[in-house]
Amino acid sequence: MTRSVLFVCLGNICRSPTAEAVFRALAARAELPVLTDSCGTSDWHVGAPPYGPSITAAAVRGYDLSALRARQLSARDFNAFDLIVAMDRDNLRAIEAKRPRGNATPVALLLEETPDCGATDVPDPYYTRDFDGTLDLVEEACRALVARLAG
Ligand code: 4NP
Repeated sequence: MTRSVLFVCLGNICRSPTAEAVFRALAARAELPVLTDSCGTSDWHVGAPPYGPSITAAAVRGYDLSALRARQLSARDFNAFDLIVAMDRDNLRAIEAKRPRGNATPVALLLEETPDCGATDVPDPYYTRDFDGTLDLVEEACRALVARLAG
């Protein structure tokens, strides 16, 4: 069964496009059929490519973000995906605020996949400048998510 997963952050230029590309690559490596996408709760960067330093940090590890373009979360996404994964608690709340009446799509935090990682929210490297630290957390959690969905 193909699963569809939507990763969501604020701007859709750092964390969620990173998670999208990492999850897609790890799922392909595990031969797990998935449809995956990402978006932002804000409309601040709609149409823009991922942030340059995020593209570069991911490319060093073999993940290609360059073709991705930012878009904003819409009500339609709640019916289009099996699972919506938020990068932090603020965005989880913003997602829940957009949930259409009657929709029951699961919305979870990415780092719930790795409860021992020491963080609840994926730090935003746009502000922390720690692009590798964010990638470490995203890779570990996406690996766990792939394993859970494959199991
Ligand atoms: P993201 O990071 O939510 O991981 O894409 C951000 C990127 C840009 C801004 C905020 C968050 N911004 O304020 O422009």
